[in-house]
Amino acid sequence: MFSFSRVVTAFTLALSLSSGVYGIGQITRVGRYLYSADGSRWYIKGVAYQEQGASAPNPNAPFSEPTTFIDPLANATACQRDLPFLQQLGVNTIRVYSVDATLNHDSCMQALSGAGIYVILDLTLPVNGSIDRTAPTWTTNLLDSYIATINVFLKYDNVLAYNIGNEIVVSPNGTNAGPFIKAAARDIKAYLKSKSSTALVGYAAIDGDDTWIVPLASYLACDPSGSNSGNTAIDIYGLNNYEYCGNSTFAASYAIKTGDFAGLNIVGYFSEFGCNNPSPRVWNDVSALFSPQAAPVWSGGVAFSYFPAQSDLGQYGIITLSADGSTVTTSTDYNNLQIAYSNVKFVDVPPQTGAPAATYPACPAENSTLIASTTLPPTPNDAACQCLDYNLSCRFNPQTSNTTAIVGALIDSACGLLGTSGGNCNDLAGNGQTGSYGLISACDPSTKASYAMALYYEANKRQATACSFAGNGTENTSATASAAVVASSCLASATGTFVPTAPATVNNPGTTSTSGSSSSSSKPGAATTVLVSDSRALLGVFLMVAVSVAGGFMSLA
Ligand SMILES: *[C@@H]1O[C@H](CO)[C@@H](O)[C@H](O)[C@H]1NC(C)=O
Ligand SMILES: *[C@@H]1O[C@H](CO)[C@@H](O)[C@H](O)[C@H]1NC(C)=O
Ligand SMILES: *[C@@H]1O[C@H](CO)[C@@H](O)[C@H](O)[C@H]1NC(C)=O
Ligand SMILES: *[C@@H]1O[C@H](CO)[C@@H](O)[C@H](O)[C@H]1NC(C)=O
Ligand SMILES: *[C@@H]1O[C@H](CO)[C@@H](O)[C@H](O)[C@H]1NC(C)=O
Ligand SMILES: *[C@@H]1O[C@H](CO)[C@@H](O)[C@H](O)[C@H]1NC(C)=O
Ligand SMILES: *[C@@H]1O[C@H](CO)[C@@H](O)[C@H](O)[C@H]1NC(C)=O
Ligand SMILES: *[C@@H]1O[C@H](CO)[C@@H](O)[C@H](O)[C@H]1NC(C)=O
Ligand SMILES: *[C@@H]1O[C@H](CO)[C@@H](O)[C@H](O)[C@H]1NC(C)=O
Repeated sequence: MFSFSRVVTAFTLALSLSSGVYGIGQITRVGRYLYSADGSRWYIKGVAYQEQGASAPNPNAPFSEPTTFIDPLANATACQRDLPFLQQLGVNTIRVYSVDATLNHDSCMQALSGAGIYVILDLTLPVNGSIDRTAPTWTTNLLDSYIATINVFLKYDNVLAYNIGNEIVVSPNGTNAGPFIKAAARDIKAYLKSKSSTALVGYAAIDGDDTWIVPLASYLACDPSGSNSGNTAIDIYGLNNYEYCGNSTFAASYAIKTGDFAGLNIVGYFSEFGCNNPSPRVWNDVSALFSPQAAPVWSGGVAFSYFPAQSDLGQYGIITLSADGSTVTTSTDYNNLQIAYSNVKFVDVPPQTGAPAATYPACPAENSTLIASTTLPPTPNDAACQCLDYNLSCRFNPQTSNTTAIVGALIDSACGLLGTSGGNCNDLAGNGQTGSYGLISACDPSTKASYAMALYYEANKRQATACSFAGNGTENTSATASAAVVASSCLASATGTFVPTAPATVNNPGTTSTSGSSSSSSKPGAATTVLVSDSRALLGVFLMVAVSVAGGFMSLA
């Protein structure tokens, strides 16, 4: 009997290890609140967890932009080193900004799960792995990259949420990215559902003037069809908020924002918090954020940041590492945050039995501070874009694998040339303000480059020189159909939505991330947003801006 039951236990354990199931309770979203398995209200008591990567000077902004990242969930030694400090800090969640889908995350994820720690995982990657705020699109390469990451994390039981973007919109005139963010939420939600994942889908917003951040939040959580469907809505809205400094009070720092988000129909939390002026931090913001006044709107937050994150505005890290990375030293900030977190009592209002079900209101009307159409772009269609690329008469055939560095310039150049030949690149463009999306706007940048090059080549009677593009183009004389005909044949039926599947060829994100021809101006207007963005930038995870694929069609518009 006894030995039998021991065998069973060992077997069960082995099974648990292999499936990643450690019995961490499932967190459930009901309407705008989170609940633990026992039906009591649950809050995110978190810390940002990502060492900063390299960054490059940004000519358009007073701070640098990340070019690489260090995956914090792929190094078992480092996770083991940090786990006791995360446990001692009393966190139940970490937020991670970028991971490398080609690496193994079992050890870190299982250790975190065993310690009762959930992960909020951003799906974005530096340089070209995010919706580009200056030229927003939702394209096959991004969808594939997000899915590649999700596929690696599906087996873990402690992924609380996947963020589909961080600070993509930084000003009212950038709210035209809204439809692309919603489309990403729609497709990622559908994919997760198809894999029986209950992880939430979120977005982390830059703080700013309430006249646009609040309407944008409503927009991201709304139902354009007006039928109370959450299909295109995010589940959880994060606000990167640093308003509460030093010995402030709820009334002085959080009351206005909390009031403005009173109508939010989805879960709200602070995806970053922790004003560091004065320093060292006393973390009085913690008691305010977890107070009965905040509880109707906010479900906790993520303190910024476990790892060092130095900026012009001071240090945001709460520990330091020894030069060889082997030991952790905590700071006064860490000790104070630990005390603050240890005093948090979750306000159990409303309990799950009394929680109103989710509702998805109609979308806010467009106005000067919300230029986001309720007509969303289609689900990016790999097969359709590949069909197009395959049949084009002139194709982008880069001599380098570092395509990110040149593809934007090539599209600009091909579209510019095409303009002088009487053509245009309208098929490439998508416009989130008007809700009109060109036939191939959801294809990846390389396919767009091929298409623009083929149009130019054909407009010039298929002369070989018109497909040269300084060595970046290759003719296919067997491809006799015109680019326009191929586009309509391959993509005419790819204008709708569908449940995406795993890409045939998995991207290899992370390892080859490079500095692209980023043209982002991430310089925000308000002081709070400078601070937020600055901390982000230094971490190496600030908005990852892609190629300036807009240039070409802008100049032709
Ligand atoms: C958008 O707004 C920002 C700041 O409010 C401004 O710097 C930028 O020039 C604007 N961009 C456009 C295209 O109007
Ligand atoms: C904050 O309050 C504490 C306790 O009352 C006090 O010791 C400290 O000096 C205050 N800090 C600032 C910056 O006012
Ligand atoms: C893992 O982290 C440890 C501690 O910082 C470091 O010494 C080691 O080089 C890291 N391993 C890899 C593969 O980066
Ligand atoms: C735009 O509409 C939103 C409501 O959706 C409102 O809060 C905001 O103030 C409006 N902006 C302007 C400039 O009127
Ligand atoms: C393009 O290539 C595909 C194979 O991917 C083929 O089935 C299709 O008929 C071709 N379309 C055109 C318009 O040539
Ligand atoms: C050239 O185009 C034809 C017809 O679309 C296609 O079958 C063939 O595979 C293409 N060749 C190359 C090298 O892409
Ligand atoms: C980003 O660029 C790299 C290098 O060109 C490429 O390997 C990777 O697939 C790109 N990622 C996305 C999401 O487009
Ligand atoms: C990719 O190109 C960019 C821009 O030219 C350059 O800064 C970067 O070093 C290149 N990366 C690699 C791996 O060659
Ligand atoms: C390809 O295009 C880029 C960008 O326009 C250019 O810098 C490069 O010289 C071209 N040729 C080759 C062989 O890469």
